[in-house]
Amino acid sequence: MKNIDDKWRLIAIDGVAASGKSTTAKKLAGELGYHYLDTGAMYRAVALNLINNRIGKDDNYAVISSLETVDIKVECKNDQMKIYLGDEEVSEKIRANEVSKLTSQISAIPEVRRMMVELQRALVKSNDFIVEGRDIGTVVFPDADMKFFLTASVEERAKRRFAELKEDENVKTLEEIEKEIEERDLRDSTRTTSPLLRAEDAIRVDTTDMTVNEQVKHLTRLIHTEMRKESQVYAGE
Ligand code: DC
Repeated sequence: MKNIDDKWRLIAIDGVAASGKSTTAKKLAGELGYHYLDTGAMYRAVALNLINNRIGKDDNYAVISSLETVDIKVECKNDQMKIYLGDEEVSEKIRANEVSKLTSQISAIPEVRRMMVELQRALVKSNDFIVEGRDIGTVVFPDADMKFFLTASVEERAKRRFAELKEDENVKTLEEIEKEIEERDLRDSTRTTSPLLRAEDAIRVDTTDMTVNEQVKHLTRLIHTEMRKESQVYAGE
């Protein structure tokens, strides 16, 4: 999509766990020619660094001190994003179940959030971006050009996660996954610092009955409509 002025565009996609944010954001980025930033991956890298250094989540001092030395690098190129801890690419490792749980716990720590928000703002300085997370439209980029908030029923989200499980993680039942998702939602939305919240101006999209392609189509349509409106105002029509 062409910019109607010199401004870089930013689209924020927030929402509950397993609501289809990542897949949708990635595909949208590909379709619109935007870069894609998955902010959850950055919190996950902080958690993986703690695991690598055998730092427990309850050792607040060690967790906060680890932020001084952790070396997180992110490469965003269109719909591809790679994340590194030091020289090691950890894009796959951060998806492990153990990392997911710890991430949700440590992402409540204000110092962790402060550092991530700073990094995110620095990364998204130039270029059109689709940024996906939990607090993008509320805290990180409250002036985003467009904001979406994705939801889906917990049953549907558990089914999606279940289908994604790798063979070695396949010991879990659907009910266990549903419970884990509910716990994460509760933790993410009740923490004091930047809880998961829909920005007032975010468009809510319930993806329960949508396939990924339908989600992408739906959001693309909404974005095009908004951009058309903007260009009409810009052209003084
Ligand atoms: O989107 P995800 O599942 O990769 O996110 C992992 C965890 O990181 C999730 O439990 C909430 C947290 N997170 C956050 O607090 N703020 C963000 N902007 C992104 C993720």
